[in-house]
Amino acid sequence: MFGKKKARPQIDQEQLELIQNAQKRIKQKKRLYFHFVLFLIGSIFIILANTVLDIGKDFTPFGKEWFLSAIFVWLFFLLYHVFNVFITHKFMGKAWEQKQLDKLVVQQKLRIEQLKNELEKEAPHIAESEHYNKSLKKKEKTSELTIVVAAAENNAIGKDNKLIWHLSDDLKRFKNLTNGHHIIMGRKTFESFPKPLPNRTHIVITRQNNYQVPEGVIVVNSLEDAISAVKNDSQPYIIGGGDIYKQALLLADKIELTRVHEDFEADAFFPDIDPSIWKETANTFHTKDDKHDYEFSFLTYERK
Ligand SMILES: NC(=O)c1ccc[n+]([C@@H]2O[C@H](COP(=O)([O-])OP(=O)(O)OC[C@H]3O[C@@H](n4cnc5c(N)ncnc54)[C@H](OP(=O)(O)O)[C@@H]3O)[C@@H](O)[C@H]2O)c1
Repeated sequence: MFGKKKARPQIDQEQLELIQNAQKRIKQKKRLYFHFVLFLIGSIFIILANTVLDIGKDFTPFGKEWFLSAIFVWLFFLLYHVFNVFITHKFMGKAWEQKQLDKLVVQQKLRIEQLKNELEKEAPHIAESEHYNKSLKKKEKTSELTIVVAAAENNAIGKDNKLIWHLSDDLKRFKNLTNGHHIIMGRKTFESFPKPLPNRTHIVITRQNNYQVPEGVIVVNSLEDAISAVKNDSQPYIIGGGDIYKQALLLADKIELTRVHEDFEADAFFPDIDPSIWKETANTFHTKDDKHDYEFSFLTYERK
């Protein structure tokens, strides 16, 4: 009663149809073979009946013995049978062929849909690569444009135009990387500093025409102008904020990311790093301690 049910072999409908068709085909051929053997035996029997037993000796259609006409008519039926098996129903039958064709068409349509979806997903990456390559050619880049950023797990980077955390080693890293170089930033990030950072050339991007800045700070009206302004620096940095990072990610060669391993409420965010475009080349983990309230990792990404 509670014994295991015997597992039945699972054959899908398509396999079943193939087997049934193959069986039908074998039967068709067997019948033809049987017809052929019958024709041979029958012909011998007719010849003997006519010539040895003299059956219908006087019946001579078309001036010849009747067995010739009889064999000829039978041969005609045999050939018709052959024609039927090998030509008219040559494979699995018209209906079966049509069904297979319809199936193929449906499969192809599904594949085309799938390819379309994949292409739609890929399009932004292709566009980004093209954008990057074009900008490379246009400016014959001599410098490696690097983004420096500290972002939380949820990509939060700032709130109310301030940084969200204070991580001493992250600030040191920022200082060491950018020291002596050009730093490109959005107007809001610039305004978040109490004063310009020492030993760095500040390039501030704004759409305002008469934006006033302290001496030494360079004001430009677009990211492209900012990049032109730093072409003599082999290692300029994009230092934020969210608005500028989003645009610069299309043009940068490298990302120096400090990933803070927490989620934070924020109003400025870093864009997602697409692993199909960027490869991680360095990763160093830092634990919490007296000077660091959160765990974080220093990560380097390079454009593939
Ligand atoms: N965690 C980090 O590593 C990090 C780093 C930097 C900043 N942050 C934080 O990020 C936040 C600021 O980021 P945000 O996105 O609000 O501002 P933002 O990117 O610093 O600056 C945005 C401003 O830049 C100008 N701008 C942007 N695109 C431009 C273009 N294509 N052409 C000309 N001007 C352009 C505009 O200035 P105008 O309005 O004057 O036209 C725009 O309002 C702050 O909270 C800051 O603390 C965090």
